[in-house]
Amino acid sequence: MASSESAAYDPNTMCAASVSVPGESPVQTRLDDGRRVQEGIASVFDRAAAYYRDMRWEKNRVTRLEKRLTRQVLVEELGDGPAGSALEIGCGPGTWTPLLADKAGEVTALDLSERMLERAREAVREPNVTFVQGDAASFVTDRAFDRVMSVRVLEYVPEWRSIVRRLEDLVAPGGRAVIVTKTPVSVWRGTGRERWFGPHTMARRLTGRKLDPEFWQKYIPVREMCRAFAEAGLVDVKVRPVIFGLPVYVRGTKQYPIIPRPAEAPALRATSALWRWVSRRGEGIRRVSLVLAESYAVSGRRPAP
Ligand SMILES: C[S@@+](CC[C@H](N)C(=O)[O-])C[C@H]1O[C@@H](n2cnc3c(N)ncnc32)[C@H](O)[C@@H]1O
Repeated sequence: MASSESAAYDPNTMCAASVSVPGESPVQTRLDDGRRVQEGIASVFDRAAAYYRDMRWEKNRVTRLEKRLTRQVLVEELGDGPAGSALEIGCGPGTWTPLLADKAGEVTALDLSERMLERAREAVREPNVTFVQGDAASFVTDRAFDRVMSVRVLEYVPEWRSIVRRLEDLVAPGGRAVIVTKTPVSVWRGTGRERWFGPHTMARRLTGRKLDPEFWQKYIPVREMCRAFAEAGLVDVKVRPVIFGLPVYVRGTKQYPIIPRPAEAPALRATSALWRWVSRRGEGIRRVSLVLAESYAVSGRRPAP
C-alpha cells in the first residue's frame, strides 16, 4: 500500500495532492505502474472513507446544494421507469447507491476501497444491493445491466477510456449509462493550488523530489468522454453541467473568501436558478455553461435490438 504523504487525501480539498492538471504533463502511468497507481488510490480512499461523505456532501449548505444538484442530474439521466439490473462503478460510501436500489431489481455496487465498501454496507440497507470489491478497469462480469452509473470516479482511473468502452458490453440493449466526472476547475481548485503553493509541494519542489506516481487524477475532456461513449455504441449522448462551481469557492470543501458569508445564501439561490435555467436548455447552452461547472455528466443509451 502506498503511504507517502503526497498521496494523502486532503480533508479540506477532498483531493489528493498529486494530480495532473490541464496544460501540464500527467503523472507518468506506464502499464507496469498500473498496479502501484491502483494500490495508491485504494489506500488514499481507504483513509478518506471515515470522513468523505460528510466532508464532500453533507457538511454545510454549499455541499448540500451540490448534493441536490448531483442527485437531480442522476435521477433525470437514469431515466424514468424501473430497471431489472444496475451497476454502480465506484460507489464509495454509498452516497448514490440508494437511487439505483429504488429503481432496479438488483444492484451491483463496485469499489476499489474496502473501507469505502464497509461504509457503504453500513449506510445502504436495501437487500437488493450486492457490494463488490474490485477495480473498475479489470473487474470481470459476464452480464449486462439496464443502468450503469459512476459518479466522480473515472478521473482517478488511468484506464478510464477502456472502462467507458466497456459500456458496450456492460449496458444492456435499451439500457442507459451516466457518468459524472470533474471539470478542470474542480481538478485545479484544490489540487492545482496545493500543487503549486502548498507546503508539501513547495518542499517537494525545493528538494527536487518527483510527484508521487502512486496517485493519479486527471481531467477527462468532454469531447474525449463523448467519443468514448460513441465508440461504445451508445447513442443520444448528452452533456450537462452537474455542479456549478462558483459557490464552492465560498464555503465548500475549502474556504475561498470570494463571496462574503452574508452573501452566500443569495449567491446559492442565484446559482440554483441559473442551474435550473441551463438544465432546461439545449445541448449548446449546456456545453457553454460548463465554464461555470465543477463537474459534468455524460449520458447515453444503448439502442434496443
Ligand atoms: C471521490 S469518491 C466518489 C464516491 C461516490 N461515487 C460519491 O460520489 O460519493 C471515488 C471512489 O472511486 C473509487 N475508485 C477509484 N478508483 C477506482 C477503480 N479503479 N475501480 C473502482 N473504484 C475506484 C474510490 O475507492 C472511491 O470510493
